Amino acid sequence: MVKIRRRERDTIIQSLRAGVVPQRGLQHIQVGRVNEIKALINNIDSVIDGGAFFKLIIGEYGSGKTFFIQLIKTVALEKGLVTIHADLSPERRLQASGGQARNLYSELMKNLSTRTKPDGNGLSSIVERFITVSRQESDSKGKAVEEVLTEKLNCLCEYVGGYDFANVIAAYWNGYNTGNDNLKQDAVRWLRAEYSTKTEAKKNLDVRNIIDDNSFYDHLKLMSLFVKLAGYDGLLVCLDEMVNLYKLSNTQARSANYEQILRILNDCLQGGAENIGFLLGGTPEFLFDPRKGLYSYEALQSRLAENSFAKAQGVIDYNAPALHMTNLSQEDLYILLGKLRDIFNSGIDSSIVIPDEALEAFMSHCFNKIGDSYFKTPRNTIKAFLDLMDVLEQNKQLSWSDMLEQISITRDCPVDSFSENDTVETVMQNAMLGDEQTEGWANFKL
Ligand SMILES: Nc1ncnc2c1ncn2[C@@H]1O[C@H](COP(=O)(O)OP(=O)(O)OP(=O)(O)O)[C@@H](O)[C@H]1O
Ligand SMILES: [Mg+2]
Repeated sequence: MVKIRRRERDTIIQSLRAGVVPQRGLQHIQVGRVNEIKALINNIDSVIDGGAFFKLIIGEYGSGKTFFIQLIKTVALEKGLVTIHADLSPERRLQASGGQARNLYSELMKNLSTRTKPDGNGLSSIVERFITVSRQESDSKGKAVEEVLTEKLNCLCEYVGGYDFANVIAAYWNGYNTGNDNLKQDAVRWLRAEYSTKTEAKKNLDVRNIIDDNSFYDHLKLMSLFVKLAGYDGLLVCLDEMVNLYKLSNTQARSANYEQILRILNDCLQGGAENIGFLLGGTPEFLFDPRKGLYSYEALQSRLAENSFAKAQGVIDYNAPALHMTNLSQEDLYILLGKLRDIFNSGIDSSIVIPDEALEAFMSHCFNKIGDSYFKTPRNTIKAFLDLMDVLEQNKQLSWSDMLEQISITRDCPVDSFSENDTVETVMQNAMLGDEQTEGWANFKL
């Protein structure tokens, strides 16, 4: 039986039932993807050694991209990196002129996590740690704290935007030293890109610039340098839902974003970036579509093309910048269901009896309803299984075999994947593929 804390157990179950990837406890449910994980651990080690990496995580809808990114984030935190993550959206882009890149930066900073603050909001604690490290150094070397701070911050000044960044950290120190909490808050606000006008920043912090759409990437690089100064091993930047760039209807806006991706990719591959790694999650059309995907941009296509040698040999090049998520297998799902059963039972007084034979019966029931998508894109299978466990827990007189046939399951597919010309019938057919069951859990629970 797995040993797992109650809070972790509840988070896992609640998130999976809601169809989202849990923020914590992923190690308890992880299955498959051994080679992909190994490759990313190597990448993280290279960041710790002062290098950089850029990895696209490409997979079909529901195939496990977010899960994988979240898992690697956990590994990175354990290894002493700072992580930031955000989903792209129409309001959050890599390149923009209407504040959308600044929005993305703010979101990333809001979600900044460290090993001791894995749920985000870690920005101030990094600045505090930078001050602590500097104070320790000042004690051990017999120098004034200001002198140590200035020495450290000076190295940022040679980078674009570094001078203002250093001044803002210095302002935080002043606030810290004089007990001026407002000044500290203003500094953090600036670092979170929450100033929208230079005038206000000048007034509060006496700096000339703010983090805006144009300085998005320069500031990510500065942040990676700063976390090193604060004693961390590097920065992992996780960007999910990249398909939102593909969906931009304005060609110019899309190209500008792809240019930004090219800039980041080049920087990582050519040694222009240090102690930073990028993980970008997106669907195949975001990469491959020759008209609107990354492949529409010649320079990106040549850099992101699959390793033809590996392809010819039928093997996967895990070191390529685009990592294609293979689907989970039936065996993976079987193991996963077993893990979910144990996790579910770990938090309740009397265990729900679901023998291995029931797992097999459940899987073949799902197969009959929705074909092999039940293990390839398992979100709904996982939900249905946990719903089943939940009903069994609340109705001790029921047994799994009584209920199996009543389990309703639909194929996991994106709502907006249907074309405008689809009739209601085809949409319903697609969503309910193979599922003649009309009574859902709602009826069933009565
Ligand atoms: N390796 C894995 N081990 C255990 N569970 C997994 C694994 N990969 C994915 N899952 C589960 O499969 C479901 C779908 O995964 P996820 O949300 O990561 O897919 P996605 O590719 O990000 O989907 P979308 O295209 O909607 O963003 C989730 O419930 C997740 O917990
Ligand atoms: Mg996802």
